[in-house]
Amino acid sequence: MQIQEIIRSHVLVIGSGGAGVRAAIEASSHGTCVLISRTIVGKGGCTIMAEGGYNAVMNEADTIADHFADTMKGGAYLNDQDLVHVLTEEAPDRMQDLITWGAVFDVTDSCTICQRPFGGQCFPRTCYAGDRTGHEMMVTLMERLAHTPVRICHEIAAFDLLLSDGRVTGALGLDRSGRLYVFLADATVLATGGGTRVYDISTNSTSGTGDGYAMGWRAGAELIDMEQVQFHPTGAVYPWDARGRLVTEAVRGEGGVLKNSRGERFMSRYDPVRMELSTRDVVARACATEIMEGRGTPHGGVWLDVTHLPARTIEERLPVMLEQFLKYGVDIRTEPMEVAPTAHHIMGGLRINPDCQTTLPGLFACGEVAGGVHGANRLGGNALAETQVFGSRAGASAGKSPKRDVTIPDDQIASAITMLQEFISGTVLPDQVKREVQQIMWKGAGIFRNRTALLETKDALDALSRKRLKAVDPSGFIDCCTTRNMIDTARLIVTGALLREESRGAHVRTDVTQDWDNQSSPFGHTFQTMTKAGIERRGS
Ligand code: FUM
Repeated sequence: MQIQEIIRSHVLVIGSGGAGVRAAIEASSHGTCVLISRTIVGKGGCTIMAEGGYNAVMNEADTIADHFADTMKGGAYLNDQDLVHVLTEEAPDRMQDLITWGAVFDVTDSCTICQRPFGGQCFPRTCYAGDRTGHEMMVTLMERLAHTPVRICHEIAAFDLLLSDGRVTGALGLDRSGRLYVFLADATVLATGGGTRVYDISTNSTSGTGDGYAMGWRAGAELIDMEQVQFHPTGAVYPWDARGRLVTEAVRGEGGVLKNSRGERFMSRYDPVRMELSTRDVVARACATEIMEGRGTPHGGVWLDVTHLPARTIEERLPVMLEQFLKYGVDIRTEPMEVAPTAHHIMGGLRINPDCQTTLPGLFACGEVAGGVHGANRLGGNALAETQVFGSRAGASAGKSPKRDVTIPDDQIASAITMLQEFISGTVLPDQVKREVQQIMWKGAGIFRNRTALLETKDALDALSRKRLKAVDPSGFIDCCTTRNMIDTARLIVTGALLREESRGAHVRTDVTQDWDNQSSPFGHTFQTMTKAGIERRGS
């Protein structure tokens, strides 16, 4: 097998969502930068699909201290405080960057940025562009990127990081025809997004397969809190092929109410104060409980109702939702939506410091692939802010890295080629394995977890990892590598879930009783590397 091309740069950015593009923009002012993406750059990832908004303190009546406190409380105090300080302090400036670069956010009659209430926040802090906020951000970022000298490599999937003397020196990639590319760099930024495609029902695009978690882990980086998976309370349940698609929290922010099949506004039983604008972990559990206890809708969801709102509010503030549901045959101005929890976001990820440095020299991480910012539960609207704050920081840190004499790691390339060639003689098609991963994870590592089910899930994943994935020809290599990443990511989630013997934020262990609350929990982060795994004890 030949190497198609060897591409050298000062900084390599892997991933082209909001964090990756922001990192590349920043890195480009420090030296050469290459951006690679499994999809057409800017079209994949989750940012472009993000609907609801971007949290930033933009109003004199709001404070950074309140944004910090809301984020910590919402995250069940598992967040890394230093990262939360950075997020909340820098979110307004990074928002201002977007506006300066031409992003059109909704504004009030007095030309201030419109902000809507989102769950778990004491102030309506979520800035938005209708219900297509991420799209507006990506269009703006792509325009800005086009004015930099960044070399863009579309549709190249990174599948392993390169290492030399314990330092990350780039990555190996494949194009759709299965041709091999070697990327060498002084500094590498992982911005590969999340991985909730390991679940049967997910809001993620097809690129949410956990590639960055798996690549980072295999290279020796430390990951934290991988058990913390956010189930968004409101995904579409019907029609079948729309299952899991995001129904934005903005619907509830604009006044939407949740009801069960008896017409009860059931959130009054779970969080009578915050109701539908409680944190996502609470609302998702409430919806799941109503459905499990037999008070669900005909297609197995709950009702989300905005019919009491003026039609004009729906048309102006929720145009994507209106259009999406009209396509499903539901006019949300006059009929309720059917919704149910859907896997949405992984709060855990590669451990980073505020400069986005991972535990591996030469490797930086930003966006969803990094852990620690959101603790055990992310507030809606904090992810878009995170992409810009930490994308910018990762790009700057990588850009400022010293120049090195990076050599071609022949041994690693040879073993990667051996792995790829073995796919040709494999026995199981990746699609079959992916489906099994998704179903196993949904059943055994979903919203409610227990040790027995987690151990069964772990055994099933271990068995899948031993299967010999098959590529019919080299065009199937990416699929095999992606499936390998999904298995590794799923195993990281399940191992974390076994390690955390408490219920905290999005992670609920029905087999554990505890006499502590989130603030007094004896536990800190779960951590996993290739060689060790455990849970931190607070104060030790
Ligand atoms: O519901 C939403 O619009 C999602 C927002 C988020 O995950 O931050």
